[in-house]
Amino acid sequence: MVRGLMEARATKLRMRKCRVAVLISGRGSNLRALLKAAQADDFSATIDLVVSERDSDGCVFARDAGIETRVIDDKINFETKLHEWLSSRSIELVCLAGFMPILSPSFVGVWRARILNIHPSLLPKLRGLDTHKRALAEGHKEHGCSVHIVTEKIDEGEVLEQARLTIKAGDSHEDLAARVLKLEHKIYPQALDKYARKIALY
Ligand code: GAR
Repeated sequence: MVRGLMEARATKLRMRKCRVAVLISGRGSNLRALLKAAQADDFSATIDLVVSERDSDGCVFARDAGIETRVIDDKINFETKLHEWLSSRSIELVCLAGFMPILSPSFVGVWRARILNIHPSLLPKLRGLDTHKRALAEGHKEHGCSVHIVTEKIDEGEVLEQARLTIKAGDSHEDLAARVLKLEHKIYPQALDKYARKIALY
C-alpha cells in the first residue's frame, strides 16, 4: 500500500512539467528549437509564455504556435511588468534566447537560479557581443556556444552545457555564426530538459 502510494507519487513527480517563459529580441530560432523539443511527451518543460523586446519574427512564430506572447512596450520599467507576467502565469524558469536587454541585479536576485541563457561562445571565453568576429580576430582555434545560469554578472554563472567546433581557415564570421547557431539549437533544449527536470522535483 505504502509502496504503491510512493510509486504513484514518483510517477506524478516524473510527469510534472516545469513552466517556462522564453524571452527573445528578434529572429527567435532558439525559441523555435525549444518549442519543437517541448512537443515531446517526455520533455520536462512546457513553454507557456513568450516575451519579446519588440514585435519580431519570433513573436509571429510563437503566436502562430498558440503560445501566449507579450511585447515589452516600456523599455525603462519593463522588469516590473515582466515579473508580473511571469508570476501570474506561475512561470518557474526563464530562458533567454537572444534577449538583448541586460536584466538588473535586483531582477536576477528575485529569479535566482531560475534564468538560463544561451551565449554564442565557449564561456568563460568571449563574454559580451560580437563573439564570432572576436573569435576570428583573436585567432581562436575553436569556438562554440554555452548554456549557463544567469547571475548578476554578464555571461557568468554556472555553465550547464557547451558545444564546440573547430575554426577552419577561411571561415568568415557569418560562417561561424551559422555553424554555432546549429549547435545552439541542439544544446539549449538539452540543457533546459535537464535543468527543468530538477526544478520540477521541488
Ligand atoms: C543567438 O546566436 C544567441 O546565442 C545570441 O543571439 C542569437 C539569437 O538568435 N545571444 C546573445 O548574443 C546573448 N548575449 P535567435 O533569435 O535566432 O535565437
